[in-house]
Amino acid sequence: MKNKPKKSKIPWPTKKAMEQVYELNLWGNNTADFYSGFGSHNPEIVKPYVAIVKEFLTSFKNPLIVCDLGCGDFNTGKELVKYAEKYIGVDIVPELIAHHKKAFIAENLEFRCLDIAVDDLPVGDCALIRQVLQHLSNAEVESIANKLAAFKYVILTEHVPNENFTPNKDIISGQGIRLKKQSGLHLTKPPFNFKVKEEKELLSFNLDLGKGVIVTTLYEVF
Ligand SMILES: C[S@@+](CC[C@H](N)C(=O)[O-])C[C@H]1O[C@@H](n2cnc3c(N)ncnc32)[C@H](O)[C@@H]1O
Repeated sequence: MKNKPKKSKIPWPTKKAMEQVYELNLWGNNTADFYSGFGSHNPEIVKPYVAIVKEFLTSFKNPLIVCDLGCGDFNTGKELVKYAEKYIGVDIVPELIAHHKKAFIAENLEFRCLDIAVDDLPVGDCALIRQVLQHLSNAEVESIANKLAAFKYVILTEHVPNENFTPNKDIISGQGIRLKKQSGLHLTKPPFNFKVKEEKELLSFNLDLGKGVIVTTLYEVF
C-alpha cells in the first residue's frame, strides 16, 4: 500500500495564532482575562527576573526608556514600570492591549498593539523581550533582530534545552517552542549573528525533569 503524501503544515499568521492561545488558554489559566503561562507567573521564575532587571535599570543615573516587546499578560512588566523613564508595552494581540490600557495606568506607561516582526518598533534605550522569540519562526526572529540593533541594551529571555543543543532550528510560529526539536534560540549564533559589544548571562532557571532552562541574557548592542 502506498503511503499517503505527508501534508505540509501551512503556518497561521502569528497574530491569529497568538489570539487563539489566549482565547483557548493554551498556556494555561488563572482567573485573569489573559494568561501568558507559568514562566510569567511562577514566583521562583518571576521574582529573580524582576530583581535582576530592577538592578540593571536602577544602575543608571538617568532612567531608561524601556520597550517591553511581547509584554503578554504584563505580570512581569507591571513590576518594572516604576524603574523606567518611560515604559512601552507592546503586543500583537489587540484585545490584550485594549485590556491593559484600562487595567494598568501610570504616567510613564503606554501600550501599543504591534507585530514586532513587521511594524516599526518604538524608540527606546532598552528592549525587554521575554519568552517571545522562542515562539517565532526564524524569518520573524531575523526581522526582529535587525530592529533590535537600534537599542543600546537588549535583555532577552529564552527557554532552551538543558544540555548542548543545536541552536536556532526553525519552527512554525505559535504556541510551541524550539524545545520540541531539542533546540533553543541563540541570537548571536547563525543564522541571526546578532552583533553585540558584550553579552552577559544574568539569570538561569533550571526547570525540573530536564524540561529545559529559562535563560536571561543582557546584550550591550554596538
Ligand atoms: C509567552 S508570552 C510572554 C509574555 C511576557 N513577555 C512575559 O514574559 O510574561 C509571549 C507574548 O509574545 C506576544 N507575541 C508573539 N509574537 C509577537 C509579535 N510578532 N509581535 C508582538 N508580540 C508578539 C504574544 O502575543 C504573547 O503575549
